[in-house]
Amino acid sequence: MVNSHKKLTLNVYTGFYCIAIILPKICICSRFSMPSSDQFNQDPGAFPTATNGEPFPWHELRLPNTAIPLHYDLFVHPNLTSLDFVASEKIEVLVRDATQFIILHSKDLEIMNVTLHSEEDLRYRKPGRKLDVLSYPAHEQIALLVPEKLTADLKYYVAIDFQGKLADGFEGFYKSTYRTLGGETRTIAVTDFEPTEARMAFPCFDEPLFKANFSIKIRRESRHIALSNMPKAKTIELEGGLLEDHFETTVKMSTYLVAYIVCDFKSVSGTTSSGVKMSIYASPDKWSQTHYALEASLKLLDFYESYFDINYPLPKLDLVAIPDFGSGAMENWGLITYRETSLLFDPKTSSAFDKLWVTRVIAHELAHQWFGNLVTMEWWNDIWLNEGFANYMELISVNATYPELQFDDYFLEVCFEVIKRDSLNSSRPISNQAKTPTQIQEMFDTISYNKGACILNMLKDFLSEEKFRKGIIHYLKKFSYRNAKNDDLWSSMSNGCLEGDFTSGGFCYSDSKRTRSTLTFHGEDVEVKEMMATWTLQKGIPLVVVEREGRSLRLRQERFLSGVFKEDPGWRALQERYLWHIPLTYSTSSSNVIHRHILKSKTDILDLPENTNWVKFNVNSNGYYIVHYEGHGWDQLIQQLNQNHTLLRPKDRTGLIHDAFQLVSAGRLTLDKALDLTRYLQHETSSLALLKGLGYLELFYHMTDRRNISDVTENLKHYLLRYFKPVIDMQSWSDEGSVWDRMLRSTLLKLACDLNHAPCIQKATDLFSQWMESSGKLNIPTDILKIVYSVGAQTTAGWNYLLEQYELSMSGAEKNKILYALSTSKHQEKLMRLIELGMKGKIIKTQDLASLLHAIARRPKGQQLAWNFVRENWTHLLKKFGLGSFDVRIIISGTTSHFSSKDELQEVKLFFDSLKAQGLHLDIFQIVLETISKNIKWLEKNLPTLRTWLLART
Ligand code: BES
Ligand code: ZN
Repeated sequence: MVNSHKKLTLNVYTGFYCIAIILPKICICSRFSMPSSDQFNQDPGAFPTATNGEPFPWHELRLPNTAIPLHYDLFVHPNLTSLDFVASEKIEVLVRDATQFIILHSKDLEIMNVTLHSEEDLRYRKPGRKLDVLSYPAHEQIALLVPEKLTADLKYYVAIDFQGKLADGFEGFYKSTYRTLGGETRTIAVTDFEPTEARMAFPCFDEPLFKANFSIKIRRESRHIALSNMPKAKTIELEGGLLEDHFETTVKMSTYLVAYIVCDFKSVSGTTSSGVKMSIYASPDKWSQTHYALEASLKLLDFYESYFDINYPLPKLDLVAIPDFGSGAMENWGLITYRETSLLFDPKTSSAFDKLWVTRVIAHELAHQWFGNLVTMEWWNDIWLNEGFANYMELISVNATYPELQFDDYFLEVCFEVIKRDSLNSSRPISNQAKTPTQIQEMFDTISYNKGACILNMLKDFLSEEKFRKGIIHYLKKFSYRNAKNDDLWSSMSNGCLEGDFTSGGFCYSDSKRTRSTLTFHGEDVEVKEMMATWTLQKGIPLVVVEREGRSLRLRQERFLSGVFKEDPGWRALQERYLWHIPLTYSTSSSNVIHRHILKSKTDILDLPENTNWVKFNVNSNGYYIVHYEGHGWDQLIQQLNQNHTLLRPKDRTGLIHDAFQLVSAGRLTLDKALDLTRYLQHETSSLALLKGLGYLELFYHMTDRRNISDVTENLKHYLLRYFKPVIDMQSWSDEGSVWDRMLRSTLLKLACDLNHAPCIQKATDLFSQWMESSGKLNIPTDILKIVYSVGAQTTAGWNYLLEQYELSMSGAEKNKILYALSTSKHQEKLMRLIELGMKGKIIKTQDLASLLHAIARRPKGQQLAWNFVRENWTHLLKKFGLGSFDVRIIISGTTSHFSSKDELQEVKLFFDSLKAQGLHLDIFQIVLETISKNIKWLEKNLPTLRTWLLART
């Protein structure tokens, strides 16, 4: 895909929960009041109307607790020619309270026949008493009406025959197709259920809390295989040549983790040290790209088993590359599904970044086998307990298994990315209310993923890795096969330590107060729960303002807001009632020791040792806060960077660059000061810091280029090429070096070619011609492939040739690079052709359309085209992807959030208003509007400074 990979960590926000946040008594959420079946009998008029006109006996979106599932026997027979399936199930339910109906989820399924029987209830002993079924599609529910009230504490079996069509999109039980090397198109059937789509494949209690065991049977043709969560127990041959696979019964699990696939894929397998059979599946022609995934997944599963001190509980784990996939990957227990580019690694076309991505996605989904599958959040409001943890565990596991990937450097970006979103007023708390399926989908955003991971990393840094690990082991063991919420995690974090457990960091768990989730830090009690509540129940990120007064440091915390200045009338109101417990770290010019202090109040004072020149807070950027140094603070740091930057750690230097430019957006630091800070980069050797500094300068370049502010764009271009010339010229056109050397090389050469640097264009043009002459056989170093293709795509012959190769290529990694290159064309008709191909979905798959639109929209020549297209084809796009989907959210933010003029803001606002008038609401609307306003404000304030600063340097 164009943007390399599908990334779901969008800037998305789900609203209207805790309106006033008053700490520490943060937010109390009441459970729904459940209408009883008696209430229904008394007043059926108070209930919604089912499709047949009768009253539907349930009006809540959440299911009642009156009947709970224990076991599902599920039989599915998909027909890959007629593209439909017939199925049946028998659900064992335990009735908790006497009831006249059972409510289940079901969406787009045709229910044929429902019967009930029980071995414990004499009235239902005879098999198969037929039940009436009502349907209420607005809530995706059906009601099974029983002739005689079911008795509390008895078990019943509900048998349902049903059928459906294999879905067209990426949800439920859907079809996916792929092309073989020989040009044949083949179809497979695959499931994808999270968060609320299991109900599209079989009627079920589709909420994470309703864990049950599943026994699955799949009927198939002999040319196919069937896979499911568990290993196959047996295969039965049926008359007429069909086969039926019976899978072993699963452990207790949530419906969203159930999975099955019917396909003709090939696999490679290996066994972990503990005897788990791991297999990587892909379509037959892509089998050769599965080997890296096998190596990585074996290593990572071994790592997790020992890190969590809990074995992976199933006998096997399959990882399958699916040709059409909505997200990046899905952690179904025992049968993880991936987008092809998230699992397959092709040594000829996969770059250093691709390797990092594949490793990361495998690590993420394997982490879910514990965080998510073994222990599941009670409800989607706490989805961060799944996704934040999985994101955080990527850091721990990849660092341990592939240290050469230096994943901890990459992790910094994970936090920087979410800070952009969390410093807007439209952000949301990590733990947030979600009711409708759209709201639930919107919870899968950068706040749950990235902020979740970053605050866990901050907590680990504060507690020590050892304490943190003990805490999570405690949590996982305590809640295995069950569900947990925020508080359960914090309690486990504080209760896991042994008597007298002190660490050198100056803190320990206080034994006598274990039950109060307290630990001691420098002799002071710290409530983990209280501390973490300030990070999970309150939105936003704190700004720590540091002011030096002789040997004292005055500290002050505020809410950091970008795009809102302190002098703005609304600023004060936006600050009210925000307070964090911030575990600060700092080091000084006089020693390398990491000092710690918890800032719990608005202001505080610290004493410094004598002869301290500078102080740097947030050591290694492990904390989730921004730091502003008032007075001469920044000057002292800039001076140190210029004199000898190596006295500060690379991650500290990177953090300083980040914070400085964030402070510019908040109107707290002048742009020229931040730009001055980047001047030391000439001597920088850390790829991380260089990439950060370069990233901001490039951002400004693109912003002015899109707005046609040509004098500044030109000067920035000259500045960038002149200033980074030594490091650009140093780059070889090869794949040599560490992962970060390689990623820096890709970025620098891409920048040079984007800026039309003659030697870069020349080299890329030569390589592209050689590649074309070799009929695509020449091996170009993987890290520069995208650059070579992009330069080649600027001629019509090159562009057409690339499109041909796109169709033929068997490597997703290569296709992504080609599609990106095609999207850099300056010809509108070519860009339109790409969009049309993406809409058709044959040559450019629908799964890649959103990132294609995003890539096109970011270029000056494509921005208007993409934006017009989205407005004109909105209904079509909505139908293809669904309102809350990643794709729709990426399409909206990808084609609008870079705008920076008042006219554009007005246009976007009008468009969103028209959607709202149709009852369509997404949190992304507000995020986009705030982002555009922020861009406008940034330019108003900083463009003159940027212009003058550049003039003085070009
Ligand atoms: N559980 C998610 C997949 C998912 C996303 C389901 C949204 C429902 C809604 C999966 O574990 C995931 O997070 N996938 C990521 C990959 C990852 C490395 C961040 C993705 O799809 O991008
Ligand atoms: Zn995940």
